[in-house]
Parts: sequence; C-alpha cells; structure tokens
Amino acid sequence: MSQLETPLFDVLLKHRNRHPIQFHIPGHKKGQGMDPAFREFVGDNVLSIDLINIAPLDDLHSPKGAIKEAQKLAAEAFGADHTFFSVQGTSGAIMAMILTVVGPGDKILVPRNVHKSTMSAIVLAGAIPIFIHPEVDEEFGIAHGISAESVEKALKTYPDAKAMLVINPTYFGFAADLKRIVDIVHAHNIPVIVDEAHGVHIKFHDELPISAMQAGADMAATSVHKLGGSMTQSSVLNVKEGLVSVNRVQSVLSMLTTTSTSYPILASLDCARRQLAVHGYDLIDETIRLAKDARKRINKIPHLKVAGREKLHSSATFDMDLTKILISVKDLGITGHQAEEWLRLNANIEVELSDLYNILCLVTLGDTKKEINLLVNALQRMSLAFESEASVKETNVNIPDIPALAMTPRDAFYSSTEVMPLEESVGYICAEFIMVYPPGIPIFIPGEIITEDNIRYIQMNIDAGLPVQGPEDLSLKTIRVIKERKPIF
Ligand SMILES: Cc1ncc(COP(=O)(O)O)c(C=O)c1O
Repeated sequence: MSQLETPLFDVLLKHRNRHPIQFHIPGHKKGQGMDPAFREFVGDNVLSIDLINIAPLDDLHSPKGAIKEAQKLAAEAFGADHTFFSVQGTSGAIMAMILTVVGPGDKILVPRNVHKSTMSAIVLAGAIPIFIHPEVDEEFGIAHGISAESVEKALKTYPDAKAMLVINPTYFGFAADLKRIVDIVHAHNIPVIVDEAHGVHIKFHDELPISAMQAGADMAATSVHKLGGSMTQSSVLNVKEGLVSVNRVQSVLSMLTTTSTSYPILASLDCARRQLAVHGYDLIDETIRLAKDARKRINKIPHLKVAGREKLHSSATFDMDLTKILISVKDLGITGHQAEEWLRLNANIEVELSDLYNILCLVTLGDTKKEINLLVNALQRMSLAFESEASVKETNVNIPDIPALAMTPRDAFYSSTEVMPLEESVGYICAEFIMVYPPGIPIFIPGEIITEDNIRYIQMNIDAGLPVQGPEDLSLKTIRVIKERKPIF
C-alpha cells in the first residue's frame, strides 16, 4: 500500500455509502436518535461514521483488516516495526508501555517530572520508580529533560533496573541527546520507552530533533492529536522489535482500551498519518518559518524574551523544536498567568499554558501569517500596557532532594491514611503528590518519607509566592500520610 492511501477511512466511507440498516450500537443510528441541536451542530457526516466494530470495519482489539492496514502504513511513516492506534491518548499508550516492561517489584528509571499517566501505570504495575532529576533552567524556571550522564549514573547505581522512561521532547520543545541515552541504556540490555506526547511531527522534518524511533528507542507513545493534525484523544504507540514483545504490547493495550473504540477518532489518525507522510515536510517547513519569524519579532518587544537555541549546551538540552514559543514575561513585572489572562481579555488569544514566569504558544500546521501577526501585535500591546511595572527580575527555582521511598506507590495507594499537621509529619510516609510550580518537579510522591528539609523547602516556596500543587489541603497546614508510624525499608 502507498502512503497516499487511507484504508480505514476508505472502508468507513464505503460502508456508509451502502446505507446499511443498523440494528447495532451506537443507538443514535447515524444521528437519527440524537438530540437535534447537537446533531445539526456536528453534522451528519461525522455521525454516519460513528460506528462500532462490526466485521467489515475491523476491530482495534484484534485487527485483521482495515485497521491492521492503517497501522502498518503508520508504522512505515513513523519508522517503527509496529504501530498501535490509541483512542485513549498518549496517557493510555504510556500506561501500556509501562505495564509491558515492568511488573510488581521491578525497578524503572524515570525522570522526576513525569506525567501523571506514568505514575498511574507504576501504581497499577506495582513497580518501583527510580527517579532521575531533570535539568532545570534557572533563567526561565522550567524543567528540561534528563542528561545522558545522569542516566549512566542511575544505571550504575541500579544495575537491576528493568526499563528506562524518557520524556522527549519536553512540553517546552527541548530534546535530550536521545540517541546517546538509548545507546547507554541498551548497553545494559533493557528497553528505553519514550513519552513523545509533544513530538509527533519531529520525524517529518530534519530541522527538528530526532524522533524516538529514529534514535532506536524500543517504544514511544506519541500524541498525534497534539501536533499532528488528528482529533483529540488519538495517539500512536510505536514499537521496535527486540527488547519488547509485540504480542504483549497488543494484549496490554487491549486490557486498557474501551471495547467501544471511536471510528471517527481512528479514521482521523489514518488521515493525519497520510498528511504527515505525504505533505508533512512542506507543512512543517512553513510552520518552522512562521515560528522563526514570530520568535524574531517577539524578541524585539521590550521586556519579553523567547527561549531559543542559545539554551542548548548539554546532553539534556541537545536540540530543540523551534515551533514551541516559550515567552518569559517576568521582566514585564507580571506573571505568566496574568499574561494569559490579559491576552484572553484584550486580544481573544488563548495560550497553551502559563506559569509563574512564562507563557507557551504553539505554532502548528494550523497557523498562517495572520495568526502570527495577531499574536505579535497583542504581545506588543501587552508590553506597552505593563511598561510602568517592568523591571529585571530573578527567578526563584530550586530543586528539592528526592526523599527515600519507603513503600511502592502501589502499596501507598492501597494503605490506610490519615491527615496530620505538616510540621509534625517528619518521618511519616507521604500519601499524596506535592509539587511546586515552577519547575513542576514533585517534592513528595505517595510512598516517600517526609523529611524536615523538604518541609522547609515547601515552606520556602510558599513564602516566595510559588504555587504548591497536589495536596488536599492547599494551604499545606496539614498533609495526608500513611497511617503506620514507622517507614518500612
Ligand atoms: C509530557 C506528557 N506526557 C503525556 C501526556 C498525555 O498525553 P495525552 O493528553 O495524549 O493523553 C501529556 C499531556 O499533556 C504530557 O504533557
């Protein structure tokens, strides 16, 4: 088959054009049984392919027809040996990767600032996370990826680790020297699995960092919906044969996946793959051109600064995706949150995210010169609006020590817990996640022993006005701990 084809989308169209009389779910039956206002809004086209896994349409749980062909084309496009479609986002694919490579009591190396789906899978697997601190950018107050040197050190300390998870590229578009990390980990004969939520497009343009598959990683969970042009919730799980069992990946994914998979979402994956494979280079080329133009113009606006290639100086910050525009607004005397709100109220612009010091704007295949002009113009107006408050400010970003893990996150999850005053909790085992933003690195995760130093760290951050996230009691006067007094080593 050629990359010009879309086998799954074609089968759905063919089926719909036969106008079969449906005595199966979904009960709205091409929209006829649906609330008319919603039906009219979304349109009959999409409702006519909102179908279920009847024989002509194949079954994601055991693909033998159109879905199998669509996944094969995707594997070819992403440079994988096998590609599995996910209708549960990259979160679902990350959980499948982790449950494939580790089980109860197995150690897995992970960056400390993992996505919540990684921790959820570690709880489900009963695995033991061995955390590696990401590199921190003190100027922008963000966490980058992990360095090759820290991976080497972690493997020396934990030679019995069963797998390594890497986030690459990061949310902010920074990429580590992934090839070197993969080579280091493979020398220990264990798999590298990659959270590639923010990197579906990087394989399709040589000015972007190399993808997980290009670096030789064993698996990568990749959000096609984020930057690849498919519908929300659609992702792929790419697999290289060798250190992981492809059959196990399929059965774990099946365990985690709804039996009512959305065909519009699956078809959008099939078509996004075609667009990326056939036109990806040119579309991304234009996206990069627009982003570079935006970067240049935003950097000329007084008191604003965009993170660029000058940040690349280590194996953790080895390359970057220029389409992610991270703008520091701190020297304007406002927080990223204030900038986000100002842009919403005064320019009808919604950014991807904001934190204490920055806003993040994504330039994608969906942008044109017009949107870039609107953004630059709005930022110029914002700079003028706050001109009188502008002054050069320092960030306040520290990394806390990683506390000792007294029990697996799974045991902590199933333990009885109680709430107690924070200042009396030293020596107890934490039962909740506590993070300080920025840089969004957890201070405690469930199962870790509370230390005086880390309580002091939390207090220092609260005093500095940094938002603490995660705990039930946001004032952090109290903390939820495991009921048993003594940590179990
Ligand atoms: C680093 C990272 N990993 C995983 C995910 C989960 O991706 P999805 O939303 O496709 O489930 C996200 C989502 O934002 C993320 O930022």
